[in-house]
Amino acid sequence: MATDLILPHGGKLINKYIEKNYDDSKSFEVSSDIRNDAENIAIGVFSPLEGFMNQEDLLNVLKEGRLSNNIPWTVPIVLDAQKKVAMEMKDEGNVALSSGGEKFGVMHVEEIYGYNKEDIADKVYGTNDVNHPGVNRLFKMKEFLVGGELQVFHLKENDETQKFRMLPSQTRSEIIKRRWKTVVGFQTRNVPHVAHEMLQKAALNIYDGLFVNPLIGKKKIGDFTDSLIINAYESLIMNYFPKNRVLFSTIHTSMRYAGPREAIHHAIMRKNFGCTHFIVGRDHAGVGNYYPPFAAQEIFNEYPDLDIRPVIFPSFYYCKKCMSYANEKTCPHGVESKEELSGTMIRKMVNSGKTPEKHLMRPEISDLILKSEEPFVVE
Ligand code: ADX
Repeated sequence: MATDLILPHGGKLINKYIEKNYDDSKSFEVSSDIRNDAENIAIGVFSPLEGFMNQEDLLNVLKEGRLSNNIPWTVPIVLDAQKKVAMEMKDEGNVALSSGGEKFGVMHVEEIYGYNKEDIADKVYGTNDVNHPGVNRLFKMKEFLVGGELQVFHLKENDETQKFRMLPSQTRSEIIKRRWKTVVGFQTRNVPHVAHEMLQKAALNIYDGLFVNPLIGKKKIGDFTDSLIINAYESLIMNYFPKNRVLFSTIHTSMRYAGPREAIHHAIMRKNFGCTHFIVGRDHAGVGNYYPPFAAQEIFNEYPDLDIRPVIFPSFYYCKKCMSYANEKTCPHGVESKEELSGTMIRKMVNSGKTPEKHLMRPEISDLILKSEEPFVVE
């Protein structure tokens, strides 16, 4: 089943010549999440970034939501280190980066600098509350940041969660091959329920192709696991979509839960994969009640120069009277006829084995959740 959807990896960034030059250089260990972002810089997911941010860019991103050259950019992409380590890196100048003991790239350290976590929390997340998962992670970061350009020798090994990963160069050439003039991107951190599918299909009525691009990487406790999300989407697309109109691939980075600012970031990354349009629904990249439900749509008004257009949708729900998916623009009925799949319903399903009704979640997806030994992120 999987082979139908897999596209060849090809064109990895291995450059033995460059790698050899750094055989003897001192290497600095980074987390798997930082490695993901280093790879994103190297393969163009984070274009136009060419390295971890220097102070000037970071401050401009915080203040203006743009890099210092005025190009839209809304979230910090930074490498944190303890002061002593940062100083060593600066002294070395060119350093190898390693993760899990494996050297994977080289960084040309230009600058090390201190930073103000409260300011980042305020500007990026709009809150200082440590219960916010993004703020919580930020407050645990090390005291210094290290800025500078980087290159990557090789990407992470092709494990189960990487089998649908594609480089931006590969998705772009696939889009050209399929002769799609318009491509709408869909970000998700969830297993799909039918409301998600209806959003995707509503967009597919208008645009040539749909780019389904679940986010694989660090998430908060209680979110679905990466492998479950991948398996669920594989099954959904095989069973419910015309395959020639969908390109399925994963994006490997951390969820920041930064609501509006992250929606812009999500759109920029999908532009780099070749999308012309990007779906932004209700409470995009939100968590709890930190952001108004449509703030992530409104922020696009501040970015007329983004070069990818938001496709905004109201809140979708199943209406018993309409007997279909609906929203406030299409349905006159009140809350009593509204049905929505909540997190609580999903948890109930996992605990009791009772699946949600088929019009809320496809049975194939419910089965996968029930069969999963560990459906949720635990740490
Ligand atoms: S997110 O953190 O990745 O945004 P999720 O995977 O749930 O969370 O959402 C993916 C996309 O679908 C987002 O654009 C979100 O706004 C949208 N979305 C999810 N559920 C609904 C819904 N019921 N109505 C409208 N949009 C929705």
